[in-house]
Amino acid sequence: MLTGVRPTADLTVANYVGGVKPFLELQGKATRAFVFVADLHALPDHEPEVVKKYSRAVVLDYLALGLDPDVTTIYLQSAIGEALGLLTMLLARHLTVAELLRVPTLKDKVKGKPEHANAALFLYPVLMASDILIQRARRVPVGEDQVAHLELARRLARAFNEAYGSVFPVPAVHQMKTMRILSLKGEGKMSKSVPAGAVFLTDAAKTIAQKIQAAETATEGVMTPSLESHAALARELAPDAAAKAEIERIIDAHLAGKRVMGDFKALFTRFLTEFTAAFQERRADIARDARRVDDVLEAGARAARTGAEATL
Ligand code: AMP
Ligand code: TRP
Repeated sequence: MLTGVRPTADLTVANYVGGVKPFLELQGKATRAFVFVADLHALPDHEPEVVKKYSRAVVLDYLALGLDPDVTTIYLQSAIGEALGLLTMLLARHLTVAELLRVPTLKDKVKGKPEHANAALFLYPVLMASDILIQRARRVPVGEDQVAHLELARRLARAFNEAYGSVFPVPAVHQMKTMRILSLKGEGKMSKSVPAGAVFLTDAAKTIAQKIQAAETATEGVMTPSLESHAALARELAPDAAAKAEIERIIDAHLAGKRVMGDFKALFTRFLTEFTAAFQERRADIARDARRVDDVLEAGARAARTGAEATL
């Protein structure tokens, strides 16, 4: 099993419940699990300094959230950059430019205005296929937005095998049960690009309280997409069954026409604050050992290199 994470920003609680938590549930079920920080995939649209900073931060975040380096190989994509570059070249000759232009994520960005599109962006899906195939991964857990990229990786695996013999397992998409958490502002999904509508794992308790206070509320008796999504988030973060039951009690009362949105916000704020505070404490604990991230990444790089060299 293998997946990659782009190191471009601090994580939000939506990243946690929509991406990290489902992966953690899979961790340990696979014989070998790989998670890498896709630093090369961040370069088409981010400055190198930003990528460097977040590459370390994301490893700390994941360790604090429960990713276990004894079970999962954690590495930087660029640590096997030479191998990936070579495989990308070998795979790209089995692909036409027309075919790449049909990849939906590239269609808008590249085809619409090729004069502004970074060529690194164009190679994004091929590099992603290399990430997967270089470790001969069988299962790739990703969100819905990545499924088209996975299809291309599968296509390339088949084309390569047809040409040269059975080299790559055709990787199966493991589409994670994704829950789309909406912005606190009521428009679109919770995303780091609208900080006021998002709760970051690094937010202070006071900031969270302010954001929830200012969040959209639902009229009594009415279930809105926003309330539904925030109730789902609250359920994911609830510390135990009693806490979950408390959410149901409030939602039922709301649907029965009672004025309980204040209660909901108070409970939601409490779950968010407790979760983020515990996260921040674990993260600070891990960060106290200045070598921890380097050690994890060095061990991960050794394992990733062994796999990559065997494939090449
Ligand atoms: P992004 O930060 O948009 O690159 O997303 C990274 C991963 O976090 C995605 O693959 C999703 O699994 C998850 N994610 C991001 N935003 C949300 C959201 N609003 N609701 C649920 N999951 C999300
Ligand atoms: N493109 C993925 C994203 O934006 C990150 C990624 C890069 C990835 N290489 C991968 C995910 C290989 C799974 C497998 O989220």
